[in-house]
Amino acid sequence: MAITTLNIPIERAEVSKIEQVDFDNLSFGSVFTDHMLVCDYKDGQWEPPKIIPYQAISLEPSAKIFHYGQSIFEGMKAYKDSEGQVWLFRPLDNFKRLNISANRMAIPELPEEYFMEGLKTLVKLDAQWIPQKEGSSLYVRPFVFASGKGFHASPADEYKFLICLAPSGSYFSGKVKVLIEEKYSRAANGGVGYAKAGGNYAGQFYPTQLAIRKGYNQVIWTDDHAHEFIEEAGAMNIFVRIGDTLITAPTSDRILDGITRKSVLDIARDEGIPVEVRKISVSEVVEAAKNGSLKEMFGAGTAAVISPIAGFGFKEVDYELPEIEDSYASRLKKRITDIQFNRSEDKFGWRY
Ligand code: COI
Repeated sequence: MAITTLNIPIERAEVSKIEQVDFDNLSFGSVFTDHMLVCDYKDGQWEPPKIIPYQAISLEPSAKIFHYGQSIFEGMKAYKDSEGQVWLFRPLDNFKRLNISANRMAIPELPEEYFMEGLKTLVKLDAQWIPQKEGSSLYVRPFVFASGKGFHASPADEYKFLICLAPSGSYFSGKVKVLIEEKYSRAANGGVGYAKAGGNYAGQFYPTQLAIRKGYNQVIWTDDHAHEFIEEAGAMNIFVRIGDTLITAPTSDRILDGITRKSVLDIARDEGIPVEVRKISVSEVVEAAKNGSLKEMFGAGTAAVISPIAGFGFKEVDYELPEIEDSYASRLKKRITDIQFNRSEDKFGWRY
């Protein structure tokens, strides 16, 4: 075992799998690098992390993750610039949000050093896996789950924190058509919508399958109370452009404090784009689509970056969005990816 200067023990994979990967045709999150970080919580504390070859893990059938779903995750990316330097984007924000999610799910908070040093050491070790092709990056998935056993419906006494890495291409291919949800909801006041809890995503799968059967790709989540306001787009935050104004819903118990979302807001303001953070009613969006003032809708998230929406369905009617030159979506995506890939100055200090 080699020891890093940060004292994270590294057990190297005997044989690398990298030659088996077609880096020109990567899908999203389906091949994994040679190593992973593992850190265990036992006897009331997080043990120091270690890096081992990527491998299956063994759990008791009674592990509480299987029964009560105590699980949280983060999504981030590592980028390689044209000179081969490696960058992360706002990783400390991911760390902070992981602990916000941990608190909500009664999972013990992780020490910052284990997260940050573990992340850096792992990404450096597997840096040759970071794709350089435009639109590709190394998706980084830190996650924590209850490995402690027992059927008692209470927090586990043992947890695992892992980081796995997946060289990935785009999250979506082709045009994204969404359905404004009228029945199901993603989150409720006092619930866990603001946490990156695994179950938040599982709960979306069924309504999304129903939407897919109707010919849409994603659901636009509306408030749980009266389905009156739009809140998120699938697993992304949502932005709407009406006239020249870019609007997104405020974060709340129900809405994830997305890192791409807040970066988009800062960049848009910096570009001089009029920005409003406020509730957006479904009727306002439908009315704007009818009178032609709805210029753009897009989702924003780590995996999909900025994903333009080509059209939406509501109450059995389809509305198409215009294809516009110099869209906010393309301007903002360029600004954000130029920072991520070190192609522009980083006036916000986000590159790491
Ligand atoms: C991300 O955008 O990184 C997410 O966490 C969403 C996930 C469903 C891919």
